[in-house]
Amino acid sequence: MLSTILSAALLGSQLALALPAAHGGPGWYSTATSPASASQTPFKFPLPNGFPNIQIPSTKLTTIEKAAHGTLPNTPLASKLAPADVTSFQLIAFNEIFEVAFFSSLLRNITSNVAGFGVGSPEVQKSVVKALRAVHAQEQLHALGANAILTAAGAEAIQPCEYIFPSDNFDSAISLARTFTDVVMGTLQDAQNGLAVNGDDEYVGLIGAIIGQEGEQTGYYRSLLDLVPSELPFLTRSTGPWAYFALNQNFIVPGSCPNAHIIDLPILGPLKLETPNVEAKDQTLTFSFTNNGTDTSSMSLVYQNQQNLPIVEKPRNIRTSGNTVTFDVSLPYEENIMNGLTLAVITDIAGPFSSADDVAAVTLFGPALIEID
Ligand SMILES: *[C@@H]1O[C@H](CO)[C@@H](O)[C@H](O)[C@H]1NC(C)=O
Ligand SMILES: *[C@@H]1O[C@H](CO)[C@@H](O)[C@H](O)[C@H]1NC(C)=O
Repeated sequence: MLSTILSAALLGSQLALALPAAHGGPGWYSTATSPASASQTPFKFPLPNGFPNIQIPSTKLTTIEKAAHGTLPNTPLASKLAPADVTSFQLIAFNEIFEVAFFSSLLRNITSNVAGFGVGSPEVQKSVVKALRAVHAQEQLHALGANAILTAAGAEAIQPCEYIFPSDNFDSAISLARTFTDVVMGTLQDAQNGLAVNGDDEYVGLIGAIIGQEGEQTGYYRSLLDLVPSELPFLTRSTGPWAYFALNQNFIVPGSCPNAHIIDLPILGPLKLETPNVEAKDQTLTFSFTNNGTDTSSMSLVYQNQQNLPIVEKPRNIRTSGNTVTFDVSLPYEENIMNGLTLAVITDIAGPFSSADDVAAVTLFGPALIEID
């Protein structure tokens, strides 16, 4: 009932206008300029409650837990982790701290009536703020939990960076939240796989609990965007290197991270989707990247969507202007029913690839993020 009221009210206000683009849009890579726009004041920690400097346990933690509708797990933490799993939890902390920054900024914009962040009637605003306040506290617990796991295993906890956000209105912020949460859910699958393979399986269930939690969030964001709440039968797989690069490229103020360099993941090159609207049909997409001297003569464009084998396509009509390489490539939507999140990357070999991890190991540029329906 409430969600019906909510979507009706939202559709009656500003969302309806922006939705066609949000539906088929190329995700958070849509803007041509770097998101680090000079005019934007970066978001900086700590929060008013002291986050991320919260003792476990403490009355400050209890306050966050109450706002999160639940507690950090009270089960004992492992005293060691395989190096690859340390990397996974560092990436999780890096991401969750970013998410806390994002939802802090979004809540502040909504509650202080920043232009573009109005959400219709006071009742609707109340409902949206209530949902996002819970998410905000829950993300703080995800971040504190990941850093506690690292510390217990004798590894270094991740400290916050400074952040900028490409969204400048409510619709684009929710659309962005949906996309980065999709990337997170895909990447947590990668973390689970590592934990299972490396003998740290005690945390596999915990990561499953976070994936489900993030899925509840995306269902809500998708409802706000008038999309079917459940995105796909099997959510898209991502990888650590892809998520790390996407976060760095889009949200992090360069040079502002005190210790993100300890995260043992490569920094890839940016791949830009030039096609403004990706529709739910077979079509030709255009991408570009800045070539710094990498040999791309045998490059392929690889799509990862759902739990399917990576799809390899040959770039066509390659043109170069200065350092910028632009090309066209097919998106085989129909054959693969490529809804939801698709990650597109450039590799220097044509595969065939048996998994997203195989593709990540040879990714040169990307990911560009595509959301369909
Ligand atoms: C909050 O509003 C500012 C000013 O418009 C904007 O730069 C920032 O990206 C917004 N935050 C989010 C999360 O959209
Ligand atoms: C060029 O970019 C690729 C992909 O990001 C990277 O692997 C390579 O190290 C870069 N080379 C130089 C000279 O910066």
